[in-house]
Amino acid sequence: MSARRLAFITENWFRKHQRPLPWRGAYDPYGVWVSEVMLQQTRMEVVLGYYERFMTRFPDVVALAAASFDEVTASWSGLGYYRRARMLRDGAIDVMTRFDGMIPATVDELMTIAGIGRYTAGAIASIAHGQRAPIVDGNVARIVARLFAIEAPLGSPMLMREAWIRAEESVAASKSPRDFNQGLMELGALICTPRNPSCNRCPLRRHCAAYAGDRVEELPHPKAKMATRELRIPLYLVTDRTGRVLMRRESGPLMRGMFHLPHGDTTLLTGTPLRVIAGATLGTFRHTVTNRRITFEVFTVAERPRARGGEYAWIDPAALGAIPHPSYVRKALRLAGIGK
Ligand code: ADE
Repeated sequence: MSARRLAFITENWFRKHQRPLPWRGAYDPYGVWVSEVMLQQTRMEVVLGYYERFMTRFPDVVALAAASFDEVTASWSGLGYYRRARMLRDGAIDVMTRFDGMIPATVDELMTIAGIGRYTAGAIASIAHGQRAPIVDGNVARIVARLFAIEAPLGSPMLMREAWIRAEESVAASKSPRDFNQGLMELGALICTPRNPSCNRCPLRRHCAAYAGDRVEELPHPKAKMATRELRIPLYLVTDRTGRVLMRRESGPLMRGMFHLPHGDTTLLTGTPLRVIAGATLGTFRHTVTNRRITFEVFTVAERPRARGGEYAWIDPAALGAIPHPSYVRKALRLAGIGK
């Protein structure tokens, strides 16, 4: 489907089927900004209850910039993600100091404002100012993935890149960037929903590759899970005559500051691998940290290494409760009959 056709159908559908929302009509840039920030992580029904109250309390950039952080946050309470309220106020102050209180019209200028990213800049530029600026959020990415049967999963850079390109081409070919961009958002909210989309009511159905291939439920593919890595790490259980256990304090980024058991060769932990002659195997156990599936193999040592300073310390197992250590250490000690 050509960009022109996509734009034409979407705009016309929007003009007929749009919901009456409080910021639609006047399209005051400040109102559009507030609504888009609220809608970024909150459902429309919830936003509608807050938007009018927020706008009554802070009717323009001047009022928002003059309000205290606590006042703005209080008006946000219940909407969640309070960072958004702080960023909105920071942005308003930025508009007052650098743009004389006038919200700029171009994406480039908008993106220099605190808290405004590519999506919000595109939304304000197109919806409030009528600029040919594309916008892509999760809704738009989903529509593009279905229309063009894009196999890249949701949230992947490849799908996002494709969506920005399609959005840009279409908004360039549209009669009204305001109606086209809102039309895409509205289609995503009302018709091309993540689950059970209403294809029978979709104006783009005849041009949709996913619909033609009966793949609407399958596309977009879900976000790729991080691949899990399998690794094997030898651990050494070294005790002294009094029953203390040799441990080492991790200084790498993973579990920094915690006490670990001395280990053999691995790239996961950053301690110097202990060079010892392994004795008997006490056993193995599995442990999963984020995307890593680790098999730890616990050995006794044939010859006790000399006590060493630096990262190593002799720890009385009875004191372990007061010493920070990852849970795998407890599992390893249990194999040796130490601790609970
Ligand atoms: N969700 C986020 N922004 C929207 C908009 N402008 N129209 C409809 N739904 C939206």
